[in-house]
Amino acid sequence: MLLMTKAHHSNIKGHSPWTGVSQFLQTSQKIIQFASGQEPQPGDTIIYVAGAFDLFHIGHVDFLEAVHKLSEKPYIIVGLHFDQEVNRYKGKNYPIMNVHERTLSVLACRYVSEVVIGAPFAVTKDLLDHFKVDLVCHGKTEIYPDKDGSDPYAEPRRRGMLRTVDSGNTLTSDEIVQRIIKNRLLFEARNKKKEAKEIAVIQAMKRQEEEKTKGRSQALL
Ligand code: C5P
Repeated sequence: MLLMTKAHHSNIKGHSPWTGVSQFLQTSQKIIQFASGQEPQPGDTIIYVAGAFDLFHIGHVDFLEAVHKLSEKPYIIVGLHFDQEVNRYKGKNYPIMNVHERTLSVLACRYVSEVVIGAPFAVTKDLLDHFKVDLVCHGKTEIYPDKDGSDPYAEPRRRGMLRTVDSGNTLTSDEIVQRIIKNRLLFEARNKKKEAKEIAVIQAMKRQEEEKTKGRSQALL
């Protein structure tokens, strides 16, 4: 996050000398442990939402909770975009968490029934028909265009099934990263001050010790 590199996007086997590179190994067991395992039941409203859900935060939870409240019997499917896709539209070194880590964070959320790991960026006809989606939701954040500049929500918009949901929360992953960067600078400045104080105390103690030794040797003469 702080190095602003994209090294975490490639499948790195070694360790960085500065930070531990995530050695996260996704397994089907892990997914099972986190998943609800529930299939949609007759009468459920199948709601599809898509995004990066990077650094899964309270803004995401508030959004999913608001989506959950839209129906008596909601069945929420989250479409997670692959890392390369997220990087294409978000830029910099995003996403911070890889798709495996994002999958488990989202699956652990009580409002989520199912996750599409590596969902297509555009919400296509096939996807809507395959999952028998009744409603597609997006929060009040920006909708990034697809590679060719088209609207990824064109199909649900055409079907009249796209709903904008206000999470009532403006927190974003970018804001979290900015806060951490700002706090690191404050932390570094505080540590520099502390270090200078400690060095002054050590030097004063050394001087005292030297003077004591000098006094003792003079007394022996
Ligand atoms: O930015 P990201 O792709 O992770 O967002 C996933 C979904 O969560 C989007 O629909 C976005 O609008 C919504 N969201 C929200 N309120 C926030 C953060 C995200 O409604 N504070």
